[in-house]
Amino acid sequence: MKALLEVRQATRRFAGLIAVRDVSFTLAPGEILGLIGPNGAGKSTLLHCVAGFRRHDSGCVILEGKDVSSWSSDRRARAGLATVFQSATPIGGLDVLGNAMVGCHAWTRRGFAAGIVKSRGQRREEHAIREAAREALELVGLAQLAHRSATTLPFGQLRLLAIARVLAQRPRVLLLDEPVAGLRAGEKARLREVFLDLKQRGFTQILVEHDMQFVGAVADRVLVLDRGRLIADGPPQQIRRDEQVIAAYLGTATV
Ligand SMILES: Nc1ncnc2c1ncn2[C@@H]1O[C@H](COP(=O)(O)OP(=O)(O)OP(=O)(O)O)[C@@H](O)[C@H]1O
Ligand SMILES: [Mg+2]
Repeated sequence: MKALLEVRQATRRFAGLIAVRDVSFTLAPGEILGLIGPNGAGKSTLLHCVAGFRRHDSGCVILEGKDVSSWSSDRRARAGLATVFQSATPIGGLDVLGNAMVGCHAWTRRGFAAGIVKSRGQRREEHAIREAAREALELVGLAQLAHRSATTLPFGQLRLLAIARVLAQRPRVLLLDEPVAGLRAGEKARLREVFLDLKQRGFTQILVEHDMQFVGAVADRVLVLDRGRLIADGPPQQIRRDEQVIAAYLGTATV
């Protein structure tokens, strides 16, 4: 299958440290890719290079055949490479639906809530955003809570709202850095369902995770980084048996 996203020989240095070293991988449409590795392995840096928050010093990022390496993170987001932030603090005074709408200004001409007197075009635009946000809330199971104050949501549902905010922008690829960190077992199980459901609906996802059990349950393929290098790339069952991976994790966590 043709790759939706391709990273070619990405390298990123911080002063004397090579955080990401010559990493290449491809991502097929609809695939869930788990990205694991010990602390400091370069997972977040690699994800940021893909999203455009950080520039790689060499190598390139190709989205649907286009080299997006020189594009800003905003432009990449508009092209469908969307990042879910872990700490999506809800905007007080807006309900859950309003909070799901805020990410959409990225694809409108005038931005969200621009002015009190609205032209017909603006009203149409806002209507489209509202519909996209409603659909996004449906996707994560928060539609029933659309008119609740967002600040009253428990932690697990706030994480779902952060995902909805990004889904409302109708992305192709979701980039998530430790999406289940700090969640309880029940909340993790809910997120697992959501990720698998999004996969069924054709969304492509990259999940950076420490929780290998979680990754094993959702990812089609797992990449393992160790000190900036890609040391394994394969299905979860193969990764668990990989001796280099086991050695990289020795004394840190269980794979
Ligand atoms: N802004 C920065 N300046 C200098 N060094 C950095 C910077 N960001 C990351 N690093 C270093 O780059 C390496 C990779 O960091 P990164 O945050 O990508 O790792 P990670 O795999 O996401 O780790 P964790 O599991 O702890 O989140 C680490 O050695 C880190 O200290
Ligand atoms: Mg990290």
